[in-house]
Amino acid sequence: MVGNDRAPLFEALLKHISRNPSRFHVPGHGQGRYLPGELSAPGGRSLFSLDLTELPGTDDLHNPGGPIARAQELAAGTYGAGRSFFLVNGSTVGIQALITAVVGQGEVIVPRNAHRSVLGGLIVSGAEPVCVAPEIIPDFGVDCGVAPLTISRALEAHPRAAAVLAVRPSYYGVARDLEEQVAVAHKRDKPLLVDEAHGAHLRFHRSLPNDAMAAGADASVQSTHKLGGALGQSSMLHLQGRLVDGDNVAAALSLLQTTSPSYILMTSLDLARRHMARQGEALLERALELARQVRERLTGVVGIRVLTEDCLAESVGLDKTKLVISVRGLGLTGYQVSSLLAERYNVFVEMADAANVVAFVSAGATKKDCDALAGALEDIAIRDRLPAALALPGAPPGWNKRMKPRDAWFSPSRQVPLAKAGGMICAEAVAVYPPGIPVVSPGEEITPEVQEYLMLISSMGLPCHGQLDLTLKTIKVVVE
Ligand SMILES: Cc1ncc(COP(=O)(O)O)c(C=O)c1O
Repeated sequence: MVGNDRAPLFEALLKHISRNPSRFHVPGHGQGRYLPGELSAPGGRSLFSLDLTELPGTDDLHNPGGPIARAQELAAGTYGAGRSFFLVNGSTVGIQALITAVVGQGEVIVPRNAHRSVLGGLIVSGAEPVCVAPEIIPDFGVDCGVAPLTISRALEAHPRAAAVLAVRPSYYGVARDLEEQVAVAHKRDKPLLVDEAHGAHLRFHRSLPNDAMAAGADASVQSTHKLGGALGQSSMLHLQGRLVDGDNVAAALSLLQTTSPSYILMTSLDLARRHMARQGEALLERALELARQVRERLTGVVGIRVLTEDCLAESVGLDKTKLVISVRGLGLTGYQVSSLLAERYNVFVEMADAANVVAFVSAGATKKDCDALAGALEDIAIRDRLPAALALPGAPPGWNKRMKPRDAWFSPSRQVPLAKAGGMICAEAVAVYPPGIPVVSPGEEITPEVQEYLMLISSMGLPCHGQLDLTLKTIKVVVE
């Protein structure tokens, strides 16, 4: 076949790494800089020699009784859990397994802007979401979690809800105090499940917000590959207390995870846990200091604002290894600044939205990279700043649920012009960042307000996420 002598993905990755870019993204090990040395050369052999399978002595993830069981027990000890599970399909599979095991087809209280793995869990299990709105930090447009009172009211209105789900910290590193949410859920004997994809490192430095297990949550799912020092996809699920049945969670994980889990990924979890337990504090101290220097250097740069604790209420903490940099004052979108950083300065950040760029300063970051990031932003502020600050749309309108996400997902659907979609039931999610709150989700009505808002977004040229037609000229609806 034509092109069979090519390997497009391999070639693209080679091209990327040969640029020697400055990196502020996951996986946080920074191309191995912050991986335990034993992983790249185990016993003096190549990493590939660990690419094994279930053999006498290597144990079985789905029925662990040997070294995997012991590695998971040690992880539980280190992360403060009663029981921990290794995941080889990211936090995504852990969140889906928790919803399947704990909620089933019942109701669950979820933040309106939960990650799409939560939507996946709702579709897989058939659960009914009771959405609660997060609060928003002005200027940055970033969410700062759901107020405990809002959760309490939702539980009062839905006393049969099986659980409450929280996302903490957010992608932006914002971490609302969890203790009160735990108390609100436990008052009604409901478990608090935490999507802690961005919090695998929190436990290892005293000046970071506490993690979900320390706050008394019943379950947490952590992407150890993001900032916890493991390889891509490698994640963990932690449980404590009596409200979540560990055997049910194990069964759901066996249903959803591959029967050929990578021993390289599982070993990276084992070593990442050991590495963080031994050296996490020192590694994070360095990362925090580097992030502090960038923050300090950018203070006072006209058109740029970096999110600090001063922008947050007392009950909201910040993971200061993350730099949330608002570029609205430059008259540019975060997307534009992110492209400039990559193309002109060879600096790659974790993500951009309409208002911000977000750089993760992990333990794998270097002083040279941090200087490159700060220098590039200072330069952009001089060369590219436009006279007027960027205008962003207001908060999206409310929602009107007409079907379960699962029913909408499995119903026959078709694409219709957005202009003609009023009153129909949406079969996909459409969100604009910030704040990443879906304007509409599967099973919800495209009300006149939703339709108008989507048209406004589309006319402003702001990219939306989640939908099939990226231009938003058409939208997927349920055939009724
Ligand atoms: C808030 C949140 N939850 C869950 C996930 C899923 O994590 P993973 O990529 O490990 O599957 C992500 C991924 O970015 C996320 O940002």
